Amino acid sequence: MGSDIIIKSDAQITGIRQACQLTVAILNSLEDRIKPGISTGLIDQWCAEQIEAAGAISAALNYQPAAEQKPFPNSVCTSVNHTICHGIPSHEKQLRDGDIVNVDVTVVLDGYYGDSSRMYLVGNPGTLPRSLCTGAHNCLMRGIEAVVPGERFASIGAAIQEEADQCGYSVVREYCGHGTGLEFHEPPQILHYRNSRSMQIIRPNMVFTIEPMINAGERHTRLLADGWTVVTKDRSLSAQWEHTVVVTDTGAEILTANGKA
Ligand code: MF3
Ligand code: CO
Ligand code: CO
Repeated sequence: MGSDIIIKSDAQITGIRQACQLTVAILNSLEDRIKPGISTGLIDQWCAEQIEAAGAISAALNYQPAAEQKPFPNSVCTSVNHTICHGIPSHEKQLRDGDIVNVDVTVVLDGYYGDSSRMYLVGNPGTLPRSLCTGAHNCLMRGIEAVVPGERFASIGAAIQEEADQCGYSVVREYCGHGTGLEFHEPPQILHYRNSRSMQIIRPNMVFTIEPMINAGERHTRLLADGWTVVTKDRSLSAQWEHTVVVTDTGAEILTANGKA
């Protein structure tokens, strides 16, 4: 345990950085386009076009982590309101004024992976959904601040949980961040909650995602019959932001930073 986490070479980090920059460009392009009336299927189409135009491929499309699971049918995940993650885009699913939606984009460019997601406000959501989106972003940033070489991965979950607790939100436990870069999901799992399991040491040139899923209500999850869509058991709102980071000599560099977040 511990030796299974890949330490990336500088050349690999250069490649991963380029893949991450493509995810940033795609997520940026959605900022002005996501509005009431557009469908999550259209969001998927916009992303697919940009992935193809860049000569990349979607890591999500046909992704099948286990033989008994159906392959993921689309290029990105779109998770609306009480959907926590892995929402399947649909041309029948039109966004409405006041919705919040997470778009999660993972591309493979020249064999390197870049994984990031953001929340988008549709029209004018109320105070609770806005606060939840801001709170979930604060949780992500607190987690990133806890990335310090020599510290343990458990410090990331502790920082996120502390922030969520302060706001009265809950942290989803069934889904986690992950090493990434050469594969979609590499070791280690990044737990977003306070725990004593993540005892491995954070070291320079490790690359991983932090992607806390934060619920307005209880933390518990339910998987829909489509085999992918994860929703809050109590149907409360959920928000998630995700960055891919590389560990530096002193902290973390956010490879999927967009300049303002
Ligand atoms: N991008 C997600 C993550 O952050 C994984 C999506 S898997 C998919 O790890 F198949 F649903 F796309
Ligand atoms: Co991820
Ligand atoms: Co992702």
